[in-house]
Amino acid sequence: MDSTKRRFFAPCPHGLEGVLEGELHSLGVSTTTKTEGGVSFSAPWSTMYWVNLNTHIASRVLWEVGQSPYRTEHDVYNAAYALAWPDWFTPAQTIKVKVSARRCPLPSLDFLTLRIKDAICDKFAAGKQRRPSVDTERPNIRLDAFLDQSTVTFYVDTSGEPLFKRGHRVGSVEAPLRENLAAGILRLAGWSANDVLLDPMCGSGTIPLEAAFMARQIAPGISRNFSFERFLVHDAQRWDHLREAARAKQVAQAPAAIYASDRDPAMVKVAQRMFQGAGVAIDVRLKQSNILDLEAPTDKGVMVINPPYGVRLSRSDELESFYPKLGDWLKQRFAGWRAYVLTGDARLSKLIGLTPSKRIPLFNGALECRVYEFVIVQGGARRRLRPTNQA
Ligand SMILES: C[S@@+](CC[C@H](N)C(=O)[O-])C[C@H]1O[C@@H](n2cnc3c(N)ncnc32)[C@H](O)[C@@H]1O
Repeated sequence: MDSTKRRFFAPCPHGLEGVLEGELHSLGVSTTTKTEGGVSFSAPWSTMYWVNLNTHIASRVLWEVGQSPYRTEHDVYNAAYALAWPDWFTPAQTIKVKVSARRCPLPSLDFLTLRIKDAICDKFAAGKQRRPSVDTERPNIRLDAFLDQSTVTFYVDTSGEPLFKRGHRVGSVEAPLRENLAAGILRLAGWSANDVLLDPMCGSGTIPLEAAFMARQIAPGISRNFSFERFLVHDAQRWDHLREAARAKQVAQAPAAIYASDRDPAMVKVAQRMFQGAGVAIDVRLKQSNILDLEAPTDKGVMVINPPYGVRLSRSDELESFYPKLGDWLKQRFAGWRAYVLTGDARLSKLIGLTPSKRIPLFNGALECRVYEFVIVQGGARRRLRPTNQA
């Protein structure tokens, strides 16, 4: 396969751009540019396969196929028409065009979506091929256009279903964390596979599952399909080879224990089924327990907590009385541990009675949250000292 570099854009949850850039470097991508909401990168085609398969953090990988200045809708139509769509997919495949914009002076994004779709279909018709059909629910090929004030950029989505859909969810669960957000918190926490991990409010088990995949070096996308498999320019032999290489990397067991629990027996069952289906049940020590009844399983480790938010799962006043108890529990039983709490509830930091050493902004969809880091020492939490202050 050719080693020509193409341009890609990988969107991710706001707040994880730095983590995603680091991950891309570890996957062999050297040329990256971080922007708000994602990372652009240049890489050979096969690296795009590898990133789709192995990223824990990106939501998608978009292939940039064209960029052009514009002033009118007609300019956008012409720019779309100029691209070689029939080289990339067949008209038997259904398409969906999605347009997003920042400071675009044109009045209607819906009209632009229609014009771009027309340009693509007209291009096929000009080559005496049939016009592709639109399917807005389950398209075979997803096409994106992004307009700023004066430039339109076109992308073909190489992923298809968003990458946080790993294919392991069982049943429907209220308010699960997205997989790439769960993985991002683990990375922000600096958790590594050799650290003991505890998620004492594990719900459907998203955080322990991501951790188990990282620890076992299982590619997050190994059980799913990708849109690029349908492209005319797909190299099936190379893809098979890369999937085999990913399988060969897997290790038989996580090096350190991963503990997970939840007080709701129904949630524990859901998590259990998901761990079994994903082949990591042996790596996660799962039980049903109220968080406040747990003892530290080891003298140091990393804890990640995703408590219910007032606006979502639980009653607000319950949480108000819960946060001080959570703080006491951490102080009394988890000296030696680092705890990371993801919440959109600003009262937590006031009520928990511990001083966070970091507050990292992170978006859970549109909800602005923080990851609070607490370094637990005997009798309280320690602020992380600046090096110049250290004794
Ligand atoms: C926001 S959800 C966690 C979602 C989870 N991260 C996921 O991806 O599915 C919060 C969880 O905390 C659990 N929970 C609430 N109070 C608890 C308590 N006192 N002890 C243990 N778990 C509790 C709930 O049952 C719920 O599953």
